[in-house]
Amino acid sequence: MESIGVLLTCPMYTNLHEQLANRFNLFKLWNFSSFQSFSQTHANSVRALVCDTKIGADANTIDSLPNLEIVSTYSVGLDKIDLKKCREKGIRVVNTPDVLTDDVADLAIALALAVFRKIPHSDGYVKNGLWKHGSDYPLTTKFSGKSVGIVGLGRIGSAIAKRAAAFGCPVSYHSRSEKPEAGSSYKYYPNILDLAANSQILVVACALTEETRHIVNRQVIDALGPNGVIINIGRGPIIDQRELVSALVEGRLGGAGLDVFENEPNVPEELMGLENVVLTPHVGTDTVETCNDMADLVIANLEAHFSGKPLLTPVL
Ligand code: DGY
Repeated sequence: MESIGVLLTCPMYTNLHEQLANRFNLFKLWNFSSFQSFSQTHANSVRALVCDTKIGADANTIDSLPNLEIVSTYSVGLDKIDLKKCREKGIRVVNTPDVLTDDVADLAIALALAVFRKIPHSDGYVKNGLWKHGSDYPLTTKFSGKSVGIVGLGRIGSAIAKRAAAFGCPVSYHSRSEKPEAGSSYKYYPNILDLAANSQILVVACALTEETRHIVNRQVIDALGPNGVIINIGRGPIIDQRELVSALVEGRLGGAGLDVFENEPNVPEELMGLENVVLTPHVGTDTVETCNDMADLVIANLEAHFSGKPLLTPVL
């Protein structure tokens, strides 16, 4: 397969580059602003594109690669890939589901615990010597037993539900695309407003689509109220970020744990000083184990495709 051209547009945390370079004719393009000059010289050689959720594969990129057969994204999220264009052109698409489910669900719970138990504050209290000097330490809020409402009960949402249930939290959910599982012990709300009104913690775990963009709007935030907390491990634009920020600043929402943002890597300045807000830089999947598993899946899918075998995790 050494002569098959693969374009890699994302630096990975793993040795994916070497693994790809050993098997394929690898082109690395970290700086996407040079895509124009790349496409003038090498576009015809590229038969596979490996991207992630930062750069993705938009219509222009896809059109600039005339021999593109497959797009493999190093993510489960597909929101940065023009699926319509891929479908039109008969380009296969694969992603990396399942292997990352536990890590993302773990982070959702970690963020909730960090917000309720003020873990970042406690860390600073010890490291900055405040404990030693006997400064006041605020009481925190119990997490176990709080009602958890999950937006999107797919693979990751279900894994979060299982974890929340283990903390004694009553779990309910809203889901637009997935039908409520028959026999599920979680309460289903056909309306997200009702879910928010009946939850103390709202966890955003659905995919970003045109239907879910800003599904968490001002009304939903207000339904959750000043004691409510939002956790987002899905995608930033699922929440109307402007409304989220003003609700947090005005105290209309109790707190937030956010791993994703509307315009990454930019994060609203107003959030930086808020103690009831815990921020992480879109790292839901970023453990050594999971990044390696995702890399293996990217390579296995490309090998399957170019040897005429069924794809392991086909999207298209
Ligand atoms: C995913 O896999 O979609 C994660 O959000 C990482 O981008």
